[in-house]
Amino acid sequence: MAAVVLIGSQWGDEGKGKVTDFLAERANVIVRCQGGNNAGHTVVADGEEFKLHLIPSGILYSDKTCVIGNGVVIDPKVLLEELGYLEKRGIKTGKLLISSNAHVIMPYHWVLDGLEEEARGANKIGTTKRGIGPCYMDKASRIGIRIIDLLDKEEFAEKLRLNLVQKNNLFVKVYGLEALKFEDIYETYLGYAEQLRSMVTDSSLAIDQSIRSGGKVLFEGAQGTLLDIDHGTYPFVTSSNPIAGGACIGAGVGPTRIDRVVGVIKAYTTRVGEGPFPTELLDGTGDQMQANGHEFGTTTGRPRRCGWFDAVIARYAVRVSGISDFAVMKLDVLTGFDTLKICVGYRVGEEIIREFPQSQKIFNKSQPIYEEMPGWQEDLTSVRRFEDLPEAARNYILRIEELTDAPATLVSIGPGREQTIVRGEIF
Ligand code: IMP
Repeated sequence: MAAVVLIGSQWGDEGKGKVTDFLAERANVIVRCQGGNNAGHTVVADGEEFKLHLIPSGILYSDKTCVIGNGVVIDPKVLLEELGYLEKRGIKTGKLLISSNAHVIMPYHWVLDGLEEEARGANKIGTTKRGIGPCYMDKASRIGIRIIDLLDKEEFAEKLRLNLVQKNNLFVKVYGLEALKFEDIYETYLGYAEQLRSMVTDSSLAIDQSIRSGGKVLFEGAQGTLLDIDHGTYPFVTSSNPIAGGACIGAGVGPTRIDRVVGVIKAYTTRVGEGPFPTELLDGTGDQMQANGHEFGTTTGRPRRCGWFDAVIARYAVRVSGISDFAVMKLDVLTGFDTLKICVGYRVGEEIIREFPQSQKIFNKSQPIYEEMPGWQEDLTSVRRFEDLPEAARNYILRIEELTDAPATLVSIGPGREQTIVRGEIF
């Protein structure tokens, strides 16, 4: 297999960092395709924990090429800090490529993210306040500044001036804030540009060349299916396309090049930020999951809301991304529950629905219909073969496969690279 897309199948935070790291060992090129530093990937390599936001997790292998694709929004300050953090910890970052067409997060995007959230009041999205939404807004409005613009002093000056007229009008006249100053931003961002210049390239071409010469390419998704701006729980979503199709757009590769789609999915469900969540547990069981699974956001530190596995969502993720394999994560976290529940449908008033509803009003009112399964008490963290799992844990995985019609090719039972049960080849 030459090209594999890896995506989040729920609301993000499924453990994509670990699976990317695991698959990256077999890949030559690892590509981030969408989102920005709203993502947070925790990877444990050789007992050491790394937290990454923008750079593909594959960077931990010195011989891999890592690419930040055109679909990513880049905060250059954060990127340079992350490069510094990795270098300091002895990781070589020389093989990082940055798409010249990726859009740049500017200081006014941070301000706008905060202002827009405040203006939403009770309807706030709970964004990461990293300027992600406003940057994608400018991209869609065709006034965004791309990495290639940043490298050209005249072009950058012209685009920055245009943007500042528009943004300062809003800041000063509507919000009564101070205007942002051209010179400060211009000089700072030209400085960033010089530090990044050698990494900037036509990344679509680089990826194509790798695939054509027999290289293995891993497209590393950020966020998750239900945060997709088209297919997620709109408006409680991010501003990009985390589903598998987003990889084609965000990296500049055609869909016929993709061989496999791996859906990363937790053995239960979590969500950060606002929005509906039918299987959410607001009781001691949810607290137990949160504590066992260390469910606190990598990016914002916010506690993650926890709930039972939702097979309706998982099946939906299989549909919209064409998932060929699941990587089921954190099965070990479910140790110690007498009974486990899997949501197999929703009750909406008198009606029973089995498919993810298009209407958010309906999703909001959806009450989970559960199937119950016996739990297990054994510690799973040192199991390495599927057949060595307790019977109840095996049955739980087999039932997920049945309900979603996709094989659980990888099962993770701890944060370490070696704590992975492999049931088939992906690369
Ligand atoms: P934004 O991407 O910062 O605009 O936030 C929009 C929504 O997506 C919020 O509910 C965030 O909490 C959520 N979100 C963004 N990135 C991630 C992620 O990597 N994991 C989980 N949730 C995320």
